[in-house]
Amino acid sequence: MGKTLVIGALGQIGSELLDALYELRGVDQVIASDIRFPSSPIKGTFEKLDIMDREALIALIHQHDIEEVYNLAAILSAKGEKNPLFAWELNMTGLINTLEAARTTSLSRIFWPSSIAVFGPNSPRDMTPQFCPMDPSTVYGISKLAGERWCEYYALKYGVDVRSLRYPGLISYKSLPGGGTTDYAVDIFHEAIKHAQYTVYLSADTSLPMMYMPDAINATLSLMEAPVEQIKLRSSYNLAGFSFSPSELVAEIQQHLPAFTCDYVPDFRQAIADSWPDSIDDARAREDWGWKPTFDLAKMTQDMLANLKVGTV
Ligand code: NAD
Ligand code: SER
Repeated sequence: MGKTLVIGALGQIGSELLDALYELRGVDQVIASDIRFPSSPIKGTFEKLDIMDREALIALIHQHDIEEVYNLAAILSAKGEKNPLFAWELNMTGLINTLEAARTTSLSRIFWPSSIAVFGPNSPRDMTPQFCPMDPSTVYGISKLAGERWCEYYALKYGVDVRSLRYPGLISYKSLPGGGTTDYAVDIFHEAIKHAQYTVYLSADTSLPMMYMPDAINATLSLMEAPVEQIKLRSSYNLAGFSFSPSELVAEIQQHLPAFTCDYVPDFRQAIADSWPDSIDDARAREDWGWKPTFDLAKMTQDMLANLKVGTV
């Protein structure tokens, strides 16, 4: 097959997905791209690309004989609320440019991530199903829901093999998150280790769906490697790991770092979190292509702390 291009490769997901793709495809088969240059050298080829520039994207696809694209460039939920029109423009134009490239070039397979942010205050909060009322209240959620519709449209109308997951909040130690409502669940580990104190911007009991990065990478590659006949949803698949509230995460961290203390001072992100599900029903992903997570809250916490170089109990 042709090569794989990762767009937005220097972000929280991209930096870990790259390593997994190098392993799966070989370093010389994977092209990393981003709107900014890497701060330290990366293993394979890097190309600077602004996803808003459709001609540059198409030129890159021809230049490197690209067959598969992972488009990870986006503005996330909290940052999106600071500049809604820019978030809409980047999130939508970036996706449309990728879909159009697939319609008009040799590019034949796309991964584009959606989010739990597609749900809204009228969606069922517990075990939110694949299909239900969806009325997202953030510009990020609106762009993801519209994006899902565009993915399905290009799949049905033009036969584009586009695949998507509704990621929950992702937790990782290798790179920091880029402006989401769930970022506290990463920041808290760094602050617990450095200062034994953290202030969460959500209330103590705000439960949200989350996932540890190794499971998210595994889900992404499982979806992309699955035979085409197993991909029955072309909008985006619900995907679940585990759910917790800030106070539950704090209690888990305190098992390892008993001196750690936490305060709760909700800000504008509380309203975003309140509009999202508590937990997700991902039965379709399990049925269609065999999804199964491996990390829970305890295992994730232990692994995060161990990798951030702290002694565990
Ligand atoms: P991130 O903000 O960490 O990374 C995004 C990357 O895109 C950055 O490296 C940035 O430099 C790059 N970028 C920004 N504008 C660009 C442009 N115009 N052209 C090319 N690159 C550009 O985001 P992430 O957390 O890695 O998320 C990746 C995708 O996954 C996004 O679509 C996001 O909505 C989705 N997602 C993430 C999470 C999560 O918890 N991290 C959850 C649900 C969905
Ligand atoms: N982690 C993401 C965010 O909070 C969910 O899509 O924006």
